[in-house]
Amino acid sequence: MSRNLSMIRDVDQHKDGTVTIGCWLHNKRSSGKIQFLQLRDGSGFIQAVVVKSEVPEEVWETAGKLTQESSLYVTGTVREDTRSKSGYELTVTGIEIIQVSTDYPITPKEHGVDYLMDHRHLWIRSPRQRAILVIRAQIIRAIQQFFDERGFHLVDPPILTPSSCEGTTNLFHTKYFDEDAFLTQSGQLYMEAAAMALGRVYSFGPTFRAEKSKTRRHLIEFWMIEPEMAFVTHEENLEVQEQFVSHIVQSALENCGKELEVLERDTSKLRNIQEPFPRITYDEAVQFLKANGHEIEWGEDFGAPHETAIAEKYDKPVFITHYPTEIKAFYMKPDPNRPEVVLCADMIAPEGYGEIIGGSQRIDDPDLMEERFTEHQLSKEAYQWYLDLRKYGSVPHSGFGLGLERTVAWICGLDHVRETIPFPRLLYRLYP
Ligand code: 4AD
Ligand code: MG
Repeated sequence: MSRNLSMIRDVDQHKDGTVTIGCWLHNKRSSGKIQFLQLRDGSGFIQAVVVKSEVPEEVWETAGKLTQESSLYVTGTVREDTRSKSGYELTVTGIEIIQVSTDYPITPKEHGVDYLMDHRHLWIRSPRQRAILVIRAQIIRAIQQFFDERGFHLVDPPILTPSSCEGTTNLFHTKYFDEDAFLTQSGQLYMEAAAMALGRVYSFGPTFRAEKSKTRRHLIEFWMIEPEMAFVTHEENLEVQEQFVSHIVQSALENCGKELEVLERDTSKLRNIQEPFPRITYDEAVQFLKANGHEIEWGEDFGAPHETAIAEKYDKPVFITHYPTEIKAFYMKPDPNRPEVVLCADMIAPEGYGEIIGGSQRIDDPDLMEERFTEHQLSKEAYQWYLDLRKYGSVPHSGFGLGLERTVAWICGLDHVRETIPFPRLLYRLYP
């Protein structure tokens, strides 16, 4: 028999009407004469009230058997209730248990992070984890919307690759029949090829880095959005990035108010995130750091404490531009006026969330690209296809990569990226 089920999200459309909902028992309180059931169905949470004097004995007893995470069909009348968070409450008239759950491992008491991570498959049912995953889904929607509305085409670069993009130190190796292969660490080089074919493109896919860093910003498997744009220079690249990030933040604020409230996120800090974003050069950043007691010399890369110190000066993301050529990737275009720095930028999020975007204008000159290949000891055979892009109608072009999980961590106000992805792959964690 088919049931005409409603969702908790939609109960406002059934005010004073009767609904049946497929759900789980999140929590229960009882006063002896009334049982208060906290129910969840994925779309939301609602309180259902069972009044002993108003329901058949059998319904009262069935409610009594419900334990945490038991599954059920509940039928009841939708009542407006201004005291409840959802604005509605359910007066129960019937309960059909699907399964009684015993000894659910995540109780309302506090658990350690390792324990929760071991039970990640169940932990995601909690209100807080649900809110994060809903916001993540909205951020993904906003990203696709931003590019789709601006004439970009979605292109999927390969995941199994014969060579590296961001250096060889953190590649995951695998066999590809008799050949060696690596899991992609960035789709950029392929996206450059795609930009020469489709003009403005973006990729949205998983990337893998065998990084031995155990920090709150690093995942082994993370999702990256990589736009690549033909005929676009460094300056214009930054403009796209600030519009893009503003759009994502504003869209999360507009669509995920309830979820941000569950996370107790201070949204006043997010409202402010509107283009233009401040910019400082690497040179200025080094000067500022030195003046503030940091040990850093021109030519060294910034670490997390440096990034945080710089970001603290601003209430918006900040671009750090023109890094030394030496410490950046081989494909970045040198500043024509100062070849010791490149036309690049990292975008550093506020509130200590670190680098969320890395991007640059790319080298378009075939001779310089060949030179870089020699300096970086890259195999011209392995990258012949990439060198072809500079041979057949090379044009100025730029692009960037946004790390999805760091962006989610920042917008949600989380202190670790492990909660930003359904099943995080971390150093020493491949389970569940
Ligand atoms: O700065 P990255 O390494 O840049 C690239 O891969 C370029 N090929 C992108 C491009 O121009 N198309 O990485 C880009 C972003 C970082 O800013 C960061 O947000 C994220 O990817 N990221 C990570 N996020 C989580 N865990 C890790 N281990 C990450 N490594 C990079
Ligand atoms: Mg980077």
